[in-house]
Amino acid sequence: MKILAIESSCDETAAAVVEDGRKVLSNIVATQIEEHKLYGGVVPEIASRRHAEAICGVVDEALLKSGCTMDDIDAIAVTYAPGLIGALLVGVNYAKGLAYATDKPLIPVHHLRSHIASNYISHPDLEPPFFCLVVSGGHTHMIMVEDYTTFRIIGRTRDDAAGEALDKAARSMGLPYPGGVNLDKLAKDGDGSKYKFPHPKVDGCPYDFSFSGLKTSVINTIHNAKQKGEEIDIINLGASFMHSVVNCLVENVEKACNDFGYDKIVLAGGVSANSVLRLKMKEACENHGWQLYVPELRYCGDNAAMVGSQGYYEAQKGKFASLDLNAVASMPIDHEK
Ligand code: KG4
Ligand code: ZN
Repeated sequence: MKILAIESSCDETAAAVVEDGRKVLSNIVATQIEEHKLYGGVVPEIASRRHAEAICGVVDEALLKSGCTMDDIDAIAVTYAPGLIGALLVGVNYAKGLAYATDKPLIPVHHLRSHIASNYISHPDLEPPFFCLVVSGGHTHMIMVEDYTTFRIIGRTRDDAAGEALDKAARSMGLPYPGGVNLDKLAKDGDGSKYKFPHPKVDGCPYDFSFSGLKTSVINTIHNAKQKGEEIDIINLGASFMHSVVNCLVENVEKACNDFGYDKIVLAGGVSANSVLRLKMKEACENHGWQLYVPELRYCGDNAAMVGSQGYYEAQKGKFASLDLNAVASMPIDHEK
């Protein structure tokens, strides 16, 4: 089954052609990073406009690179939730128009489900059930993936997502958007024990996270140093902050996998590209004798290949949408249509 997939939930306009959920025939991503960089973060209105400008060309290129025409495509998959509503609407409406014009089935795909599916592309042997840590700019979830379309959230952030905390901390250190990526580049070889930060826990909820106090703590460290006229060692400060965030993530994953008896651990979402997270999670899994799966770097951030992969498994379960499909800004991963 060949699926044409479309993704426009944030600041990347993407299209891909994926065969049988695992084989990527093409994967095109048009990023808007340079434009949003001017404002220090994603400007939703600009994102929608750029998606509308780019989407026709991106879809055409994905078809061209895959060697397919619309006649070869069996279904169209599209990210419909969660994300920036105006941005999602561009992809959803384009996909609906194309599905109507070509009389192809339409498959609605949840954004976090597709991040998890990026691992099916990178690891042909990976099948549920497994335990997944989803860490992106907007979400931090620990999820039991019981089946390709059955999910149970067992832990989540109570405030900032890990990516959001990394982005804001990086910004306060003077690094350009997207902060998390630039922080990783700058500080990955820094001394992660140089600065001490709190290790936040959520009372009575051992599987939940809280990153806002940690973020405030790094911002305070910078302000205090500035007020005293002290030099800030950005490389080691950045490394210490990354290590603190990653320690919280790894500790909760270890606890949950021990408690629930998982030995197959999967990382997903933009922050799964982080070098410290990949390294520390690898060390933890080796210590426990657990198997770790991480997406290839090119599939960590937003892309449409992962949408084509998850779309295939949604289609296997008959989860198609009619042409009244709407975009939804906020929707839990275990929501059933
Ligand atoms: O999944 P994603 O591309 O978009 C959302 O669905 O949110 O995740 C974007 C997030 C941003 O916060 C970005 O700074 C972060 O992922 N990110 C990283 C790295 N690459 C992307 N954070 C830390 N280290 C990285 N290497
Ligand atoms: Zn994402």
